[in-house]
Amino acid sequence: MDKTVTHDVGRFFHHYPHQAVVVTARSKDKENAMTAVWHSPVSYSPPLYGVAVSPRRLTYRLIMESREFGINFLPVEQADVIVQVGVAKGDDVDKFTAFNISRQSPTIISAPLLSDAYACYECRVVDHRSYGDHTMFIGEVVAVHFSPKAFTSQEILDLKHVLPALYLGGDTYFSADHNSQRLLGRQTYKGPSEPRHPRRPR
Ligand SMILES: Cc1cc2nc3c(=O)[nH]c(=O)nc-3n(C[C@H](O)[C@H](O)[C@H](O)COP(=O)(O)O)c2cc1C
Repeated sequence: MDKTVTHDVGRFFHHYPHQAVVVTARSKDKENAMTAVWHSPVSYSPPLYGVAVSPRRLTYRLIMESREFGINFLPVEQADVIVQVGVAKGDDVDKFTAFNISRQSPTIISAPLLSDAYACYECRVVDHRSYGDHTMFIGEVVAVHFSPKAFTSQEILDLKHVLPALYLGGDTYFSADHNSQRLLGRQTYKGPSEPRHPRRPR
């Protein structure tokens, strides 16, 4: 592919698509929700999940105070909620009431979870660090909620039942088409295995 090179990086966007999730947080009596696309699993053992949140957000302050957050994975039918909580400021409006978002109770943390999510993580902050204009919060996943019918027996999101909310950049959202799904076995693609104790060259 021919490529253009620029060192004037600015607001880089070439890494999209990403999944859009809703981050929930609560401190004292204030509950809030905001959209995030800058999030990632970080470790299986212990189970860690990271999300980058700007210090300008109310959500940032609530996470700093409570040291907890929720990650809510929504289907694409909920894209309007993703935009609503990604635009409104929790300092100005109670987003749950304004957008009629229904909550479900967490089991360990105090941040609410979203009833319409097909999966949610309850996370306790184990570390946070500021990088440029965002802060990366690393949370230990202390509880997972998931809809069993959203996943296959191989622990793969079942695209015949749930279409995840994916974000392409700008104001564009889409989902994955199960017809484009391919099963490529790792064994088939593995190179010749290394001998356990490689012999020294003679
Ligand atoms: C598609 C989309 C993705 C976003 N991703 C992030 C993100 O990863 N990190 C972040 O800090 N803000 C992100 N935002 C912005 C916040 O969701 C937005 O500023 C929100 O209004 C903050 O709400 P709060 O002030 O009530 O916490 C995103 C917004 C949209 C629409």
